[in-house]
Amino acid sequence: MNNLSIDSEQGSILVIDDTPANLQVLMGLLSERGYEVCPMPSGTLALQGIHLDDYPDLILLDIQMPDLNGYEVCQKLKADERTREIPIIFISALDDLFDKVKAFEAGGIDYIAKPFQAEEVFLRVRTHLTLSRLQKKLKSKTEDQARQIREKNIILEDTVEQLESTNHKLEIANQELKLNLEQLQSTQLQLVQNEKMATLGQLVAGVAHEINNPVVFIDGNIHHALEYVRDLISLVELYQEQVGDPNDKIRNYTEAIDLDFLIEDLPKTITSMKEGADRIRNISYSLRTFSRGDSDRPIKFNIHEGIDSTLLILKHRLKDNGVRPEIEIVKKYGDLPEIACFPGKLNQVFMNLLSNAIDALDEALNNPSHCQPQQIIVKTEISAEKEQATIWIEDNGMGMSEEVKNKVFDRLFTTKEVGKGTGLGLAIAREIIEEKHGGQIWLESEAGQGTKFAIALPLSSSDVSFN
Ligand SMILES: Nc1ncnc2c1ncn2[C@@H]1O[C@H](COP(=O)(O)OP(=O)(O)OP(=O)(O)O)[C@@H](O)[C@H]1O
Ligand SMILES: [Mg+2]
Repeated sequence: MNNLSIDSEQGSILVIDDTPANLQVLMGLLSERGYEVCPMPSGTLALQGIHLDDYPDLILLDIQMPDLNGYEVCQKLKADERTREIPIIFISALDDLFDKVKAFEAGGIDYIAKPFQAEEVFLRVRTHLTLSRLQKKLKSKTEDQARQIREKNIILEDTVEQLESTNHKLEIANQELKLNLEQLQSTQLQLVQNEKMATLGQLVAGVAHEINNPVVFIDGNIHHALEYVRDLISLVELYQEQVGDPNDKIRNYTEAIDLDFLIEDLPKTITSMKEGADRIRNISYSLRTFSRGDSDRPIKFNIHEGIDSTLLILKHRLKDNGVRPEIEIVKKYGDLPEIACFPGKLNQVFMNLLSNAIDALDEALNNPSHCQPQQIIVKTEISAEKEQATIWIEDNGMGMSEEVKNKVFDRLFTTKEVGKGTGLGLAIAREIIEEKHGGQIWLESEAGQGTKFAIALPLSSSDVSFN
């Protein structure tokens, strides 16, 4: 389109009509108004010639022509991308509805009936030229805007992409941070608990050591003492036999000390002293079992000894404390083989679970409807497939609500008063069982009824982690 104002009466018009008189009239009229007119006497010529020069701004097209009629010319022009947009006004003598419809269907924009009035031709030509120019302008504007939007879109897409990539990086950094934080918390947790256990372990090991020396001393000598006593008794009996009738002094003293009873009882006394010494030695052994440190590899360990040694350490808490009677420990030990594990760590788990059970039993006292006697049942069993050992620690304490049950393994979750519980016990127990031993720990509990913790440990040491 040339640089004309929108409603200018200028512009180029192609007139296609096989009647020379019509061509002449229209050329005369339009040229007079300032339009540049190009006449074409046939459709075929028009279709060829239209591409040779600048495309016209508008076409006036006769319908009835000998070679190609107006509809066909119109269809061909509309089918060609280069000429599709040029407005076409039909001019024809025919005036029935069918042809008008056909003209519009072929792509015509308007219709002027012959004989035409000059003013009508001007008006329609001018209107359609204006409309066409407006449309072109609008189209170019729309295209401009579409292009701008596309450009902005590209920039936006770039920005979004950059944002997404930044976001992704942030998310990764965030995840790493979270992981680091979790590891840090876990390490801190482990350190606190290790410190606690190490202190307790040292204390217990110290006590065990202190006890052990005198016990070895007693145990080592008691056997000799018994021998000596037996020898002395034999000697006394020999004297009695040899001397026969003793004097009064000896007789009185013999009666005073009840020599017959003494001879009968002294070996028994020494034997029971030996039993006592044996028990102390067992306690000392248990204390050392409890306080044993772990190496970085699992070792074969008798789980029952671990539980027994932990119960021994907790004995003072199980006793009648004036507020409640002694807590009964019921052991239902199965036939467990030695299990490859980290004994110190496992003892720590038993300690945490048994302490919690005692706490729950202490607390159950506040509930007068609670059943008696207070019991902790420790049961061990080997699975039918002999793949894992299961240890149950069950109390008939106050139990847990559903809400508490869902949180017990969370770090720092506690229902105990400040100073009494830190909320670490079960979190650590889970870490030790699941991560260190490749086992499982779970619980069953009902508020007011009691709680049962279960630990399953794999028997094959290949499941045990060495970290
Ligand atoms: N046998 C149990 N009976 C009832 N509630 C229990 C029992 N064992 C644990 N709980 C509940 O689970 C919570 C968390 O136990 P966990 O051993 O992790 O921490 P804690 O005993 O509160 O403190 P910590 O063991 O660190 O001194 C307890 O506060 C208690 O509410
Ligand atoms: Mg606890």
